[in-house]
Amino acid sequence: MWLNGFPAVFLLPLHPHCVFPTGLAFDLRNSLYGQHLASEVILKAVTGFMEDNNPSKPLVLSLHGSSGTGKNLVAKIIAKNLFEGGDLSTQVHLFIATHHFPHSAKVDTYKAQLQQWIRGNVSVCPRSMFIFDEMDKMNPVLTDTIKCFLDHYTQVDGVSYRQAIFLFLSNDGGRVINRMALDFLKAGKEREDIKLNSQGLETAINNDLFNNKNGGFWRSSLIDSNVVDFFVPFLPLEHKHVVMCALAEMHTLKLAPDTAIAGKIANDIPYFPQETKMFSVKGCKSVKQRLKYYL
Ligand SMILES: Nc1ncnc2c1ncn2[C@@H]1O[C@H](COP(=O)(O)OP(=O)(O)OP(=O)(O)O)[C@@H](O)[C@H]1O
Ligand SMILES: *[C@@H]1O[C@H](CO)[C@@H](O)[C@H](O)[C@H]1NC(C)=O
Ligand SMILES: [Mg+2]
Repeated sequence: MWLNGFPAVFLLPLHPHCVFPTGLAFDLRNSLYGQHLASEVILKAVTGFMEDNNPSKPLVLSLHGSSGTGKNLVAKIIAKNLFEGGDLSTQVHLFIATHHFPHSAKVDTYKAQLQQWIRGNVSVCPRSMFIFDEMDKMNPVLTDTIKCFLDHYTQVDGVSYRQAIFLFLSNDGGRVINRMALDFLKAGKEREDIKLNSQGLETAINNDLFNNKNGGFWRSSLIDSNVVDFFVPFLPLEHKHVVMCALAEMHTLKLAPDTAIAGKIANDIPYFPQETKMFSVKGCKSVKQRLKYYL
């Protein structure tokens, strides 16, 4: 149905500072594939937060999953529905660990900058969103710096951060999520029946983050201070989802949908585990590039 364009009712212009939960629900349902857990958690968390006139703390979501499963896409979808101009809005700030904070020798400078940026932007606009990508590669000093803004403090130096939104993106926990998804499908169950709590998924992610020495969350104050409102798992994508990604990319490029080419692209990329080839190794990551090759 999405191939035939969007119903007119969803093409209303966005207004600044206003939330359109319908738009968010619509976008999550129609442009995020195979992520029923993430969709549900994000929709509830963001809608609830935006409807609360007096939140007690900023909204903090930590998105986890292996490569190409839609974490940046979700950040984009949230930005699009909350801020005029979407991820290009001056209220939306993206920090990529290896890009913005590459040298550990400069961590003191980064720390001062980061504090100034968060404080400066929130003073000007309380409803600001900060996205921290590659959290697994974030210097622990900076993780601690960010943490200070996330607690229940009414104010820090005269500025209140309670209207702000913080998103953390990382591959940490991805292996635990993939393992669980694999076991689940192997047992003959439906992907959509994977639940956040019934399988102990959220707890397992939490433990993995806390105990994985190679991850940026290891023993981090972010975990043990309980400032993260939701740990959001992104499931590994299957062949059918890759096909959908390819078709969506054609739609974006204003090309007629070609299921044969979409199928070829999905067949060409690597899957794991070796024996059953159930999940795409890099999700939908190289679909766009491969499409160009086939045209
Ligand atoms: N679940 C999905 N539904 C629809 N498109 C997806 C999905 N996952 C990934 N894509 C598409 O694949 C590309 C890569 O996705 P994205 O950048 O969101 O991955 P990521 O989870 O942030 O990966 P990484 O951990 O490597 O940064 C994007 O073009 C995105 O639109
Ligand atoms: C807001 O954040 C950006 C980085 O995203 C920074 O360049 C800018 O200086 C900040 N603004 C203020 C007022 O601190
Ligand atoms: Mg990403």
